[in-house]
Amino acid sequence: MILTRKISLSLTVENNELYNKQQRHYREVTYVLTTIKEISAHVGKEVKVGGWLYNKRSSGKIQFLQLRDGTGFIQGILVKKQVSPEVWEQANHLTQESSLYVWGVVREDERAPGGYEMDITNIEVIQIAEEYPIAKKEHGVDFLMDHRHLWIRSPRQQAILRIRAEIIRAIQGFLDENGFTLVDPPVLTPSSCEGTTNLFHTKYFDEDAYLTQSGQLYMEAAAMALNKVYSFGPTFRAEKSKTRRHLIEFWMIEPEMAFVDHEESLKIQEQLVAHTVQAVLANCKQELKTLDRDLSALENIKAPFPRITYDEAVELLHKEGFADFTWGDDFGAPHETKIAESFDRPVFITHYPTEVKSFYMKPDPNRPEVVLCADMIAPEGYGEIIGGSQRIDDPVLLEQRYEQHALPREAYEWYMDLRKYGTVPHSGFGLGLERTVAWICGLDHVRETIPFPRMLYRLYP
Ligand code: 4AD
Ligand code: MG
Repeated sequence: MILTRKISLSLTVENNELYNKQQRHYREVTYVLTTIKEISAHVGKEVKVGGWLYNKRSSGKIQFLQLRDGTGFIQGILVKKQVSPEVWEQANHLTQESSLYVWGVVREDERAPGGYEMDITNIEVIQIAEEYPIAKKEHGVDFLMDHRHLWIRSPRQQAILRIRAEIIRAIQGFLDENGFTLVDPPVLTPSSCEGTTNLFHTKYFDEDAYLTQSGQLYMEAAAMALNKVYSFGPTFRAEKSKTRRHLIEFWMIEPEMAFVDHEESLKIQEQLVAHTVQAVLANCKQELKTLDRDLSALENIKAPFPRITYDEAVELLHKEGFADFTWGDDFGAPHETKIAESFDRPVFITHYPTEVKSFYMKPDPNRPEVVLCADMIAPEGYGEIIGGSQRIDDPVLLEQRYEQHALPREAYEWYMDLRKYGTVPHSGFGLGLERTVAWICGLDHVRETIPFPRMLYRLYP
């Protein structure tokens, strides 16, 4: 009976037979298997869409089915006298999140939120869903987190996950087009990159091993092999901090660049972040609207970004009510938020005291008590989204740092090799994906920025 079956580039499938279960025969119609996102291409035609019931309203003679298929939302209109009694009856039983196929003719409608509606000709129920736990009323955060596997179906969570995907696409696109090669560092490591206080310990057969805090040290090796490189992958911090900026498992983009100094690295960072924000503005209009994001705050985000030194930041804090902040302390969230308030775009804080930063950072040659580093602080209180620095390239100095930081020599021998065999000036940085998503989406908490957040005391689902 199947006459033609064609898959076009947009992944719509044209089909010209429709098996009607109720009447147990094939109805000779032509329809296109499509998605709600693609529906505008099929005005006036009959289409088939697989989806879930989001909501339903009935007037007795007409049922209005709000459908979602993951690509969008559409209203389907079912008129009693235009469909078989079986179809009408099936529709009557649909509960929230019931899964079904819907056939219907696409109609343009200015009043519809997406601009289109469907005049339903047939439905086929896949499953009548059990009573859905997430009702349309407000739920507490803990309840929603326990049901994260279902919560991600909501329009708001879908919008966030789509923006996250766009941010990844924009970042990778920028780096790929600017001569960076993607390199994947290991997740299981024998040593730490960012200090030992928040390492995730595990066993590697008989050896001790740690989940990676950062791929940086390996990326330095990769930069000596391939010049400009970047990694993109999960990183782990066993942090006992329960804040709106901290995850235990988060994703980092870590570019590393041979022959690039601190100043040059800052220029690449600001271009990367500006490009990413502009890509989201251009490609995620609907999603930003769903989130009610203030677009004017994002439209400003263009390079160059302001730069202040750590010293200037401390001075600013002293003037702004943090009188007892002492030089040499690290900034906490309230400090970062206060500093960011003075700027309408991300700000770099540069030249931190050597003692608060990691062992691998290169001291400022004119002032060795500070390092050639910068944290990029996002506006609107989102805190540090990038940490970066120029790296120590001198083997003698690195040797001293190994001693000062009491690093186990054997585990870091290979890293020293990078300074023995053709050392070069090089810089790199790590961009925290979830904090960047939280900022661009305007979210209160990073827990919504990742599909299944791993947080202090939360490993489920
Ligand atoms: O500043 P961090 O610790 O830098 C590094 O790990 C460097 N080795 C990166 C490099 O130079 N290649 O982390 C980098 C970024 C932070 O700016 C922040 O955005 C994010 O990673 N980050 C976290 N995000 C969520 N939860 C946490 N617990 C995070 N810790 C860091
Ligand atoms: Mg940092």
